[in-house]
Amino acid sequence: MSSVLKIAVIGGDGTGPEVTAEGMKVLDAVSRLEGFPYQSTEYDWGGDRYLKTGEVLPADALDQLRTYHAIFLGAVGHPGVKPGILEKQLLLDLRFGLDQYINLRPVKLFPGVETPLAGKGPNDIDFVVIRENTEDLYTGAGGVMKKGTPDEVAIQTAIYTRKGCERCIRYAFEYCRKRNNPKGKRLTLVAKTNVLTIGHDLWMRTFQEVATEYPDIKTDYNHVDACCMWIVKNPEYYDVIVTTNMFGDIITDLSGIIQGGMGVAAGGNINPEPGGTSMFEPMGGSAPKYTGQGKINPIAAINAMSMLLEHSGYESAAARVMRAIQTVTGTKMKSQSAGKMGYTTSEVGDLVCKALED
Ligand code: IPM
Ligand code: MN
Repeated sequence: MSSVLKIAVIGGDGTGPEVTAEGMKVLDAVSRLEGFPYQSTEYDWGGDRYLKTGEVLPADALDQLRTYHAIFLGAVGHPGVKPGILEKQLLLDLRFGLDQYINLRPVKLFPGVETPLAGKGPNDIDFVVIRENTEDLYTGAGGVMKKGTPDEVAIQTAIYTRKGCERCIRYAFEYCRKRNNPKGKRLTLVAKTNVLTIGHDLWMRTFQEVATEYPDIKTDYNHVDACCMWIVKNPEYYDVIVTTNMFGDIITDLSGIIQGGMGVAAGGNINPEPGGTSMFEPMGGSAPKYTGQGKINPIAAINAMSMLLEHSGYESAAARVMRAIQTVTGTKMKSQSAGKMGYTTSEVGDLVCKALED
């Protein structure tokens, strides 16, 4: 791979292309200010192409994507396509096919952004969820018997491997060490060891073994149900959380809403191995009803771009984008909800570009 930052852009469905356009606008501005080159290629993969061609991804999609440092994804989900098809054949097949075994979700309340939690502010809501991204109930393992009859049997199996949980747990310890929270480094394992006594026992034993290599990090354990209460009651308690794929899916939506919701929250699907291709996305869906109206909030996509830059080694550019986002949420935008921002989608992108110069 060349040393020039190479990005594949998949705008996807609905408002996806509108928000990736703003993310790319910010990339362009920050690359000029920081003096680094980049190359990008747009792919039209998504619902419209599927409806026209019957194909979600071309056969060589993974080979093409492997030639990029990172993928910038807008959103998947098309009202004309049965739910599950694009999610499985685009998002999940890329996560699995590119072995993006970490789903990284920073949960940070930016200045000026409203949280539904009474009495909590930006100092209280600042933690990171690291979700395993290739195993658990997401593998599709299972089967059905006697479908459509009263005797139907459906089995969907959670698969956990030592390798799969160890690489995720190790990433989480490293991440926690690097994040170096001034309030103290703490890694919380979130699972359900009181019921999932087989699979989550593997997670617990692996967590305890790996922890011995990180004496500087305080370790901690929450059952997932209790964690949902504490995220709402005491979000300030958390530093880094590591968890399984299915539970991570759920607690990151809970966490996403306390940081201001889908207009703000972003995530990375990361293959941390040398030469791995990672994918960054705003957490919101394709919001088809807002398509083409300039109402959708691009902050989440710009946040995803900052994560992309940080992960790709452009740390000062990433920090610059992060500061600019906070200037715009803190001093300009009226709300983070679609249509209520006080600006159009593209005006918000312009404001972030302008704030990069401060
Ligand atoms: C997410 C999404 C996906 C998931 C869906 C769209 C398959 O909810 O990125 O969290 O469940 O992982
Ligand atoms: Mn989800």
